[in-house]
Amino acid sequence: MVDTPSWSQGYVTDTGYTHGFYRELSPAIITYALRLAGRRAPDIDKPFTYCELGFGQGMTLNALAAAFPHGEFWGTDFNPDHAAQAKMMADGAGLSNLKVFDASFQDFAEAATPQFDFIVFHGIWSWIIPEARQGILDFVRKKLKVGGAVYISFNALPGWGPAAPLRHLLYEFGRTQGGGTVDKIDKALDFATKLVESKQGFFGSVGGLDKRVEQIRKHNRRYVAHEYFNEAWTPDYFSDIAASMGEAKLSYAGSANPLDGFDHLNLSATAKPLLAEAKDPIFREVLRDFLLNRQFRRDLFLRGNLTLPTQERSAQLLGTRFVLTVARSSIPEKVKLPLGEMQLKAEIYDPLLDALAAGPVMLSSLIGKPEFAKITPNMLIEASAVLTGLNYAHPVGSESLIAARKALVGRLNQMMLGQFLAGEAGDRLISPVTGSEVVASVNDRLFVEALQAKAKDPVAHAANRLTRLGLSLNAGEKRLTTVADIVPVLTGVYKTFTEKTLPVYKQHGIL
Ligand SMILES: C[S@@+](CC[C@H](N)C(=O)[O-])C[C@H]1O[C@@H](n2cnc3c(N)ncnc32)[C@H](O)[C@@H]1O
Repeated sequence: MVDTPSWSQGYVTDTGYTHGFYRELSPAIITYALRLAGRRAPDIDKPFTYCELGFGQGMTLNALAAAFPHGEFWGTDFNPDHAAQAKMMADGAGLSNLKVFDASFQDFAEAATPQFDFIVFHGIWSWIIPEARQGILDFVRKKLKVGGAVYISFNALPGWGPAAPLRHLLYEFGRTQGGGTVDKIDKALDFATKLVESKQGFFGSVGGLDKRVEQIRKHNRRYVAHEYFNEAWTPDYFSDIAASMGEAKLSYAGSANPLDGFDHLNLSATAKPLLAEAKDPIFREVLRDFLLNRQFRRDLFLRGNLTLPTQERSAQLLGTRFVLTVARSSIPEKVKLPLGEMQLKAEIYDPLLDALAAGPVMLSSLIGKPEFAKITPNMLIEASAVLTGLNYAHPVGSESLIAARKALVGRLNQMMLGQFLAGEAGDRLISPVTGSEVVASVNDRLFVEALQAKAKDPVAHAANRLTRLGLSLNAGEKRLTTVADIVPVLTGVYKTFTEKTLPVYKQHGIL
């Protein structure tokens, strides 16, 4: 067995977490989601303070500190490897507005820090012991400003209900095995597969476990270690979360996902009247979780939950600038929503997508234009929320903010490209325009690097890099591994890149 240090509180520490970026943690998205929910949000045009509890590798925290140089960013993660990685990125990118610590939540609640406008904890609450949850609540109660916002995500009931025993089994099996956490994962999954196939007892009475085991198998092992192999693992009903937050003087403000506020996009005709029977806002959320069988929630709470009057809400949302985060031609006509596939109505979405593709554009500037004659302000608000929720669009900062963040975000992107060239995984770059991610495949990043290096032949440059990294290019069934084989195929990929992705990167100030 690997010894677990006493400071770990039963949390996995022998395997680092993934290098994820979560745009829902951005002050831009949090304030936007609060406005959509009709709540008064902290003002991020002025200096503000922000704290992330349990930042993992610190990718999100670093990107946000670079994206909001007028904000003061703090964070803690008790895994010193995580804190060191986050600090290395901050130092490398020259982020003087970010302070990282390796304190536990309990200790951090006692530390000298400012009061915060935002406190966020993503992927934390369901995986920590009760004392650590109490540490978070103490921190929030002591350190959140009046009017401040909290973001919490957690594993939700009833969605997790049927499969929760499977996670317990994986964990308990793992405990009986030697070696590190990652070594236990495949053994535990093989054992679970055998049990599921046996259809004995529990395994015969709960459906879908075979699919779930296979899904877990496909995930990154670092993610699986942190999701399934901690001592603590407790899914919650929303009402219990609301009660805990209530103890820290917070009340429920709305979902952090811009799509969630539109019932007609989420609920069937049968579910809608059932939900309407819930008059209490907290019970309404609980019932929604039952009707949607949700397994995961992202929620926003406020300390002082002020309603945004309807007209002010509209004015703030229409006064928001947006831009597309992907090529216009990559956005399908039919999109996947919780309710199923939905056709994006051409009469609304075509002119809006055209405008956002040429953006950044403020929604209010579209009103009165001939192509928007039949589109009401509320339709614009909803359509932009749908595109933002689907990660096709993003709110945009002011021109002065974009100018202020450009050099810092540029340095962070350079660091990320450097890490990629040193063999680390990654799938994004940060946009100076939105302060959030844009998707960047391996090939995209190779081309960006080639163009930044002013390579005479970007395709050959990228092909050389690819082979030096020990990576291959997939062409149908074939895996191409030599420069000579890669170049002809990559030439076509580069053509598509220059037509679709490069204009987006240029618009976002990445190149
Ligand atoms: C699942 S990871 C999520 C990381 C990050 N928020 C993300 O989503 O990428 C949970 C993180 O919380 C940290 N953590 C767990 N318990 C903690 C505690 N009591 N005090 C401080 N950090 C803790 C872990 O080290 C880990 O990095």
